Amino acid sequence: MRILFITHSFNGLTQRLYCELVTRGHEISIEFDIADAVSEEAVALFRPDLIIAPFLKRAIPESIWSRYCCLIVHPGPVGDRGPSALDWAIQGGAREWGVTVLQAEAEMDAGPVWASATFPMRPARKASIYRNEVTEAAVQAVLAAVNRNKEPNFEPERVAGQAHALMQQADRAIDWQSETSAAILARLNAADGFPGVADELFGQPCHLFDAWPEASLKGEPGSLLGRRETAICRATADGSVWIGHVKPAGGIKLPTSLAFTEAAELPELPLDGGYWKSPIPTWQDIAYEEAEWNGNSVGFLSFEFYNGAMSTGQCRRLTEAFQWATTRPTRVIVLRGGSDFWSNGIHLNTIEASESPADESWANINAIDDLAEAILRCETQLTVAAVGGNAGAGGCFLARAADFVWARDGVMLNPHYKNMGNLYGSEFWTYLLPPRVGDEGAKAIMRHRLPMTAPEAVKLGFYDACLPGPGFAVDVARRAAELAAAPDFPEKLAAKQAKRHADEAAKPLAAYRAEELTEMRRNFYGFDPSYHVARYHFVSRSAHSWTPRHLARHRDLDWKVLA
Ligand code: COA
Repeated sequence: MRILFITHSFNGLTQRLYCELVTRGHEISIEFDIADAVSEEAVALFRPDLIIAPFLKRAIPESIWSRYCCLIVHPGPVGDRGPSALDWAIQGGAREWGVTVLQAEAEMDAGPVWASATFPMRPARKASIYRNEVTEAAVQAVLAAVNRNKEPNFEPERVAGQAHALMQQADRAIDWQSETSAAILARLNAADGFPGVADELFGQPCHLFDAWPEASLKGEPGSLLGRRETAICRATADGSVWIGHVKPAGGIKLPTSLAFTEAAELPELPLDGGYWKSPIPTWQDIAYEEAEWNGNSVGFLSFEFYNGAMSTGQCRRLTEAFQWATTRPTRVIVLRGGSDFWSNGIHLNTIEASESPADESWANINAIDDLAEAILRCETQLTVAAVGGNAGAGGCFLARAADFVWARDGVMLNPHYKNMGNLYGSEFWTYLLPPRVGDEGAKAIMRHRLPMTAPEAVKLGFYDACLPGPGFAVDVARRAAELAAAPDFPEKLAAKQAKRHADEAAKPLAAYRAEELTEMRRNFYGFDPSYHVARYHFVSRSAHSWTPRHLARHRDLDWKVLA
């Protein structure tokens, strides 16, 4: 079928639906919901069989829904209506939630239902539920709806519904004196990643994000108890919670300690046990665990960095942690990344907030390259990147620095840099990519600018394995244990060392790095400001004013000829 997506942006869910439908042979083109006239033009050019709206912030115009079947993906169960579906569900402690695919009509979310899917809720942030459970349910429901669209006798079902209002900041407000940590976490989770909870810190208005539970610290409710790295801990009526990120009024979302220099005055609350995973809930962005099978140990290094963005400081701390992990008596190190993102490369927000974004970009790319180099030069263990969360730009190539990359079926990969103002990219992609996919393949991936699923990455030879979504962590641990226990482990390690030495003799890593960084220096300091402009719009979440040509296929010059 010829399917047009009308969507607010090409977000993770939209990317996933795009890949699933393209894989099934459908022809997809995308138009961002910018203005009714633009959507009307897209419809006229593409003449779709079906229109799908995976992520919309406003209604489709009558001029379109009255002439074409338009299916809306609503992140709520059948009968739920309104713009804050997930927010109300999380804040209200719903046990089960769902996704409904319904037909657009005059009243928002009130059209007949084509398909739906449900899932059990878990205590997590809204963005995390959206990226995981909602996305999986949306794939299920949209594929069912597309199939039904081909059935001549299928009649979508009209259901009675209940409309919920847009959640206001008054509904989200936290009373630090009387509310428990659990209630406050639910409020903060319901508002994360957008819009956050309006509050005050250090006497200044801001929105709060990135809340973590804390199991042991207590104090005067509402008071700030201390800081750890970039987060601060605030007392509640029965304990405390950590706040990792804030958005100061008029500013961009930043790590709390960067947004408020006053945080430096708070007492430091270091973690006992260094990198070892804390046995009780607390703020810990880098955590190490070990497991042993028949005398062979595997180390697991997690890095739970908000939104997968890796600042200069985070890269340096992670490099230190990795180097420490290599001194442990293990045979395999698994790099687990975070639960929602494995990595999205350098931290564009901390770069934007710095005095000199060019200098900070340079420091950040060097810090992430140091990390990639540490992984590449590890000769004491076999390394595995277990990509259980999405990865983008430099993050996709950082994973490839490991000896094996095992990705969870369902993650979205964006292994390209060009969308960020034509960045050339580093993280040793020029060393890592061509041997896997060939020179032409590498160029195609970089040029392509489109998302890739885990099965596609494996098919291309870019990653090594795609493991089923449910049970991914257990599967990874089992495979890592098998690797560690393999009778030929010493030969495998020796072969890895020999290959690294041969590669180094042919062309040193330093040469790849220098070549990539020459290009990156031009991106950061050169005459063309594209990267700085793109980064500004990205971190400011600027509204789109046009749809990129690689997505809006109906705007290709030859489309009309093809059609
Ligand atoms: N630095 C800072 N923040 C980042 C980031 C980065 N490198 N990558 C993603 N984020 C943030 C987004 O700003 C967004 O923030 P929010 O909490 O305010 O909504 C959040 O992560 C989710 O990103 P979003 O773009 O909404 O997710 P997505 O699934 O739709 O798209 C990507 C994923 C990777 C395609 C997209 O985030 C992206 O292009 N990131 C930039 C990658 C990059 O160019 N890195 C630098 C070069 S190495």
